[in-house]
Amino acid sequence: MKNNKIALITGCTSGIGKALSVKFAQQGYNLILVAKNKDKLKELSNHLSQTFRIKSVFIVYGLEKPEAAEYVFRRVQELDLKIDVLVNNAGFNEFGSFIKTSREKEHDMMYLHMFFVTDMMKLFLPSMVDNKEGKILNIGSTGSYISCPYDAVYAATKSYILSVSKGISSELKGTGVTITTLCPGSTKTEFAAKAGMEDTLLFKLFVMSPERVADIAYKAVMKRKTIVVAGIYNKILVMSSYILPNRFVDYISKMMLGKQRQVG
Ligand SMILES: NC(=O)c1ccc[n+]([C@@H]2O[C@H](COP(=O)([O-])OP(=O)(O)OC[C@H]3O[C@@H](n4cnc5c(N)ncnc54)[C@H](OP(=O)(O)O)[C@@H]3O)[C@@H](O)[C@H]2O)c1
Repeated sequence: MKNNKIALITGCTSGIGKALSVKFAQQGYNLILVAKNKDKLKELSNHLSQTFRIKSVFIVYGLEKPEAAEYVFRRVQELDLKIDVLVNNAGFNEFGSFIKTSREKEHDMMYLHMFFVTDMMKLFLPSMVDNKEGKILNIGSTGSYISCPYDAVYAATKSYILSVSKGISSELKGTGVTITTLCPGSTKTEFAAKAGMEDTLLFKLFVMSPERVADIAYKAVMKRKTIVVAGIYNKILVMSSYILPNRFVDYISKMMLGKQRQVG
């Protein structure tokens, strides 16, 4: 199945981004794969182009750098390619008590989740609107809805993604361009191990596979949905956060994310 369309996917070397890359390739999309590990990118690009007979190129860059979106945009222009679907998936978590977490890593996380995602939309949206066609997928989290103890900065960046995406999405009504925000809950990827949060209750209960999450995301993008919370348990969690008193939501969050941490 060839459709000659192009999807640009960031953070595609593992987890949800990798599963999304496979999903788009299966559907015949040509790919621009973006991440920072050249060897992994090369391997994935070769694998997908051979398996699904699509065209695939890759861009290597640390997307936490302030100029990252401009770099990616310039490379896409140099390659003379037009993006049909933009997937802002790259992300990571600096997890732990706020007074102990790394300020530098939190800066990188804020740059990656907020500046980079915003800049990518700023740079790629005008031509999508001119062409009256385009789809953007941004990755939030169930943390977009809930202030998370021991994960406060991460959850705040994901709230930003949901909020900015919803706002711009509303501005785009009638243009032929849509923004979908995917809010996954705990998903079995490298994310938890990298953040040192594998032993939290959150990653022991109701963990979804990245393939299932990618499938849900792909369908939502194609249906041009504004928001999709992945999976029934995560939907219940998000709805509960609206209904239940703050004190109770905070208690549950601490139970899910805490591991008898001591502040200080
Ligand atoms: N897994 C979950 O439970 C969960 C839940 C809610 C939301 N999410 C969100 O889902 C998205 C994907 O995460 P995942 O679970 O699939 O995690 P993952 O397996 O760790 O994959 C993250 C991807 O992003 C890339 N990446 C991270 N920092 C980068 C940077 N500074 N520059 C370039 N690439 C970078 C990683 O490449 P490297 O390995 O080379 O760094 C990797 O390809 C993230 O936005 C995350 O916040 C995940």
